[in-house]
Amino acid sequence: MESFYRPSDGVQRIVEKSERPSTRPGPEIISLATGDPDFETPAHIRQALHDAIDSGYTHYIDGRGDPELRAAIAAEASRLTEKPVTDAEICITHGGAGSLSSAILGTVNPGDRVLILEPTYSSYADLLWLIGAEPVFLKQTDDFHLDLDIIRAEAPNARMIIVCHPNNPTGVVYTRSELEELAEIAREHDLLVMSDEAYEALVFDGVEFASTLAIPELRERLIYCQTFSKRFAMTGWRLGYMIAPAEIIRHASTVHRTFNGSGNAAVQRAALAALTVPSDAPEQMRLEYQARREIVAELMAGTPGAEIREPDGSFYYFIKVTAPNAPDDLVAAALEHGVAIRAGTEYGPSGKGYFRITFATDREQLSEGVRRLRRMIEAWV
Ligand SMILES: Cc1ncc(COP(=O)(O)O)c(C=O)c1O
Repeated sequence: MESFYRPSDGVQRIVEKSERPSTRPGPEIISLATGDPDFETPAHIRQALHDAIDSGYTHYIDGRGDPELRAAIAAEASRLTEKPVTDAEICITHGGAGSLSSAILGTVNPGDRVLILEPTYSSYADLLWLIGAEPVFLKQTDDFHLDLDIIRAEAPNARMIIVCHPNNPTGVVYTRSELEELAEIAREHDLLVMSDEAYEALVFDGVEFASTLAIPELRERLIYCQTFSKRFAMTGWRLGYMIAPAEIIRHASTVHRTFNGSGNAAVQRAALAALTVPSDAPEQMRLEYQARREIVAELMAGTPGAEIREPDGSFYYFIKVTAPNAPDDLVAAALEHGVAIRAGTEYGPSGKGYFRITFATDREQLSEGVRRLRRMIEAWV
């Protein structure tokens, strides 16, 4: 008998897309799959959480977030923007995920077309499917930069463009001039631009990073989404925020309040310490990621059957498998070789033939995992 219970079409779509072998590793498996930093959250942030609880931050707070935290975010963001960011333009959210979902649910309607510049983080399309909107997957250039001609061609009748910068999974940082041209297209067709800059603090030496906040032409249509997860190694704390024009913040924060209620008061005090107490911990973590990036580059250099491009930012490598005897299911094959990875197709149709590994794992595990992957690919040539 058919079950009385059926998931919604959107949920069904997400489940079907994410059907894949488990990447939950057993003891013999090295996980290069998840984007969770192996670092502890810095001590002064952990201490600030204890202090906040002891001083009574155990109650409901303002739905848009702790006012002092909002002020600290406004001050930091205003160093990038032409015009200062005001309190009314900020909403603190439940992780970066909370800012993405509230932004999309607050501004996009069922049936709206939204341009997904892929390969890119998979949540955007999932959220659009969930609400019955239409993700329009646009393959970007072969070196994963913006294909402005394709974006321009698809811009008429779209509602929004979503950018992931630096990009998960490709690690690409877009240039300022690419973003300025994107702004021009958005203005011409009156589109919203959502920019997810979760890896903004993880950009490597020699690469110039221009935040979308620093593009004045974008400001009136920009929804900037940020998280404390990656920069401060705070994935489990669930804290992010968005910056957008006040009217958009009103709508998005209504969505956020409806789903989540008030935010976590004590965690927001700890986040205030993260932003305001001077510390070299984020920079030390960035330098370690940079060193690991070099380790992967050296271990994979010249691998027959693979194409590797060093990421400009983030903590991912997106690796193309060109070996003639490679199987379709790279994730299952890698698991058999003792490594958990993510399939390129999770990030959009043009990810076929690619896989993603993370270097948010210690050097020893990372090196062993990469050696196993190299041996696996070489055997397919
Ligand atoms: C590009 C991107 N945006 C947003 C998120 C979600 O961040 P959070 O853990 O703060 O919800 C992630 C997490 O991996 C990410 O890679």
